[in-house]
Amino acid sequence: MTPTGAGVPADAVVLTEAGVLTEAACAKVNLALHVRRRRADGYHDLETIFAFTDFGDTLTGAAAGTLTLTTEGEFASVVGAVDNLVLRAARVLAAAAGVQHGARLQLIKRIPVAAGLGGGSADAAAALRLLNRLWQLDWPLGRLADVGSGLGADVPACVFGTTQLGSGRGEQLTPYTGASMAGTPVLLVNPRVPMLTGPVFAEWDRIDRGALDVASPLAALRNDLTGPALALDPVIGTVLATLDAAGAALSRMSGSGATCLGLFASTADCDAARERIAAAYPHWWTVATSLR
Ligand code: C5P
Repeated sequence: MTPTGAGVPADAVVLTEAGVLTEAACAKVNLALHVRRRRADGYHDLETIFAFTDFGDTLTGAAAGTLTLTTEGEFASVVGAVDNLVLRAARVLAAAAGVQHGARLQLIKRIPVAAGLGGGSADAAAALRLLNRLWQLDWPLGRLADVGSGLGADVPACVFGTTQLGSGRGEQLTPYTGASMAGTPVLLVNPRVPMLTGPVFAEWDRIDRGALDVASPLAALRNDLTGPALALDPVIGTVLATLDAAGAALSRMSGSGATCLGLFASTADCDAARERIAAAYPHWWTVATSLR
């Protein structure tokens, strides 16, 4: 349970073996998440700003007759390799494309699980992009996103991996037209409390607090799942207060938690805050990285 330091860039080349393809599965953060209404199908209509960080998992793959997956990395034992979203994405893509190819896949799992960072969705999206290349399908990203939407509400956003506005369940995407935030230093802090998305949404009080106006400064926007997640585990309040005390220009819970993000004015400030928080809470998971 040692704290993690600067995040390994998800697109770091980890294998150079001939014929091995690499895809970055970048961690997703929600810079804002407004929940609007509960739907008849049990999902919630929401409006969100998806953004991605340089930190993430790495998926590699090579041609093979059958489909196999091995996992390594800090959280490999948590995800397992049996019903991993990577394998589900591969099967869904093979069926949609009408091919029977296999692949030898390897996932380096650095993103904590059930953490509000879209780790499983990012892995599924990386699998769709990687197999699109390996199997020479040459499909556009939009078609891959459509194939992936049944795997999870965040998968389409992760297929594109760029800052976007999400609506509906999160799967309806439009380009983000605000000023670019690429390169903004961001500190990710998770108190190592897993939060399942379904139960957090179920805690929502069904009060619509209003639309997400992209023209508003981020500080005026919200994550409406913060209250529900706090009700399930108050430590999230401590994480947010700790980020504020460490000098974050903005602190916010990501997704359904429990990871919270802090935006910082400089990489030096972000790194210093990480060291301070890791010293005070050595059992928390911390990564200093940047928005893409
Ligand atoms: O789509 P995904 O599998 O990520 O969603 C997990 C759970 O989170 C859903 O079964 C649902 O309970 C909840 N959810 C929701 N509204 C959304 C997204 C997720 O209620 N927009």
